[in-house]
Formats: sequence, C-alpha cells, structure tokens
Amino acid sequence: MLKGPYLQDLAPTSITVMWQLDQGAPARIVVDGPGGPRTVEATAARIGEATIDRLVPSSRYRYRVEIAGHSWAGEFATAPEVGSDVPFSFIVVGDTRSGVDAHRRVVERIAQEVPDFVLGTGDMVDDGYRQDEWQQFFEVESLLLRDNVYFPAVGNHDRQGRGRTADSYRAYFSVPDNGGDTERYYAFSYAAARLLVLDSNEYSFALSDQTAWLERELIAARQDAAVHHIFAVMHHPPFSVALHGGSRDLRERWTPLFEKYQVTAVFSGHDHVYERAEHNGIRYFVSGGGGAPLYPRRPHPSPVDLDAVKKLERSFHFLRVTVTGSRVEVTGVRSDGSVIETTAWSDGPSPPDPTQRQIGAAPEATPRPPRLPCPPRLPRPPSLPIPPIPPPAR
Ligand SMILES: [Fe+2]
Repeated sequence: MLKGPYLQDLAPTSITVMWQLDQGAPARIVVDGPGGPRTVEATAARIGEATIDRLVPSSRYRYRVEIAGHSWAGEFATAPEVGSDVPFSFIVVGDTRSGVDAHRRVVERIAQEVPDFVLGTGDMVDDGYRQDEWQQFFEVESLLLRDNVYFPAVGNHDRQGRGRTADSYRAYFSVPDNGGDTERYYAFSYAAARLLVLDSNEYSFALSDQTAWLERELIAARQDAAVHHIFAVMHHPPFSVALHGGSRDLRERWTPLFEKYQVTAVFSGHDHVYERAEHNGIRYFVSGGGGAPLYPRRPHPSPVDLDAVKKLERSFHFLRVTVTGSRVEVTGVRSDGSVIETTAWSDGPSPPDPTQRQIGAAPEATPRPPRLPCPPRLPRPPSLPIPPIPPPAR
C-alpha cells in the first residue's frame, strides 16, 4: 500500500475509505461498531475507494482494509444528525508543501487532538504534477488521515501542468459531489453547521462560475433552521498583510456574499502565517503554517488589508475550532502546542448582537462550556486471520 488507508466524505450514516496500491487489487473493508461487524467489497483499482453506508450517527467504528493477505486498521466516528445542537471541533491546517520536517511536527501535534474532522486550506504539495510530493504528503499525514476525515480545499500548487488541471487532487480525494465543478468545490454539513469549501484559484476558471453556486448555498443555509453556523474555506485570503496580500477579486466577488449571509468565519491559507482579520463584521483567518517556509510581512500592504488584519504571527501552526451552541472559539496552536491566541464569539441564525461579537482573547468571565467527552480511542483490534480474497469482479 502506497497511501492510506485514509478517510473521506464524512456524513451521519456514511464515510468513504480510500487507499493507493502499487498495483490494483480487490479489497475488503471490515467495519465493526454498532450492529456488529460487516464487510464491504471493493473492486480492483490502483486508487481504491469504498463507501461505507448504513452507519449509525455519532458512533465510533473500527475499520480494517484487507488486501492480498495484508490488513491495515483504523477507526472513525460518524457525524451527528444534521441539525443536532451538539458541541464539536475541527482542525484547520494548510500550506504543508515543501516543508517535510515542519509539516511532520504540525501533524504530530494535531494527532494529540481528537477533532471531529480536518479542513485543509490547500497547497498540500509544491507541484501537483509530482507524484513523489503527493507520496510525501500522505506519508507525513498517514496516521492522522487514517483516523480523521480530511476535507481539502485545492490550492494553486496542488494543480499541475499546462492548464493547471487538478487531476491528481481529484484522483486522491473523494469529496461530496454537490459543487458545479466536480470535486473542486463542495459543501457538507456537520451538526448545526454548513461548511462551504471553495476553489479560489481564478486562473483556470472564472470565479463567477462558482459565485452563483456559492450564493445558492448561502441562501439555502440561511433558510434552513437546522443551520446555525456557516463556515467558508478556500485557499486564497481576501485579507492579508503577509507576502501575497489579500485578493481583490475575492473581496469584490465573495466577501459581499459572506457579509450578506452572515458567514460565521472564513478560513484561508496561501500566505504562510497565522492571521486574524475582521471586515464588516465577518471574521477571516489565514492558516498557512502547515510546514511550507514561513512568509514575511508584505512591504507595502494595501490600506484595506491593513485595516482588516488585527493579528499576524509567523509560526508553524494549525487552528482548533470549537463550536458549542452559539459559541464559536478559534485557537491558533503552534507546532509545540503553545497557543498563539484564542478568539471567541457568539453567532447564530439571526444577525448577532454587535455587543456579543467580541474579538480578541476569550473573556475570562465567560466560562467555556465543557466539551462533550470524546469517545475513547478504541484499542487496536488483534490481528485476525485473513480469509481468502475472492477473485477480482472483472
Ligand atoms: Fe498558495
């Protein structure tokens, strides 16, 4: 097995397991949890994929991928019912390219958390055409992605060759197929949140193609009583005072929509720093500290970037986002585990009271509601005798 197994496309009753082999072979996935063990067969493929359905929401499962007499084990937890008002947390990390040691340190620190899923802000590799770089990315991330579902956004470096196609990205990831351009942008729900993962690369397609889809998604989310929070994720930041700076196109086309529909927060990468910005009441975070060389400040930031950005730090880091009812908390965590800062505020389906929209450190006077106890990590199942593998289906 070259890559994986790794987890994709988390939902309340289904999940996708993927892997890559050096040559195609049929696989069997044994899933054990509520209802007892069962088996899913996957046809021979070099990049294998199996969707496990009929799962129980909010439940932890073991799984084992069996191929040609070998097996690889992991575990996952299904998402809660859509609309559930349960606390949850997720990790945001990006720009891991070309920085193996730093990338490894960030991943090792993330692995000490028990997030409900991981969001990638893009630029996983330096050159999307180079398979050795994808191999390196998956090797560094292997234990993390074995037990945690990864939702990637596509960065400019993840594309490849003439025309900057996203073929490798699309081959390696299986994300919800509900965007207008297969797998490059998509939406998913987790508990009472709707997450919109966008493709902010503008040179290979018009941002306007995606804008109509984005606004439809935002309208639907705001009309859905089950959605209390909307998060947007994309590679390029609308506001930044680091090397690349904020994207004027995004500010002109998408930030008005984020404001109109009161998006809870927007997460980006591309600039290899931590940044927190606020513009017209919407919070923007840059998290591009996943391992790529850190960037300096931009010599001459635009006035709009300067006005929006409230905090910048050059450090390898990730974000821990915790949602507890209307309360949202975003913590920047350095790869040594120390905290850059915590930002907390209340948000919800109706326009929030401006007096409740605090920015900066979480107020001491407001006790943080305790997180729900995470289901304990399951002990690794003992090695089981591998039954004979049936011949390929074709
Ligand atoms: Fe980038």
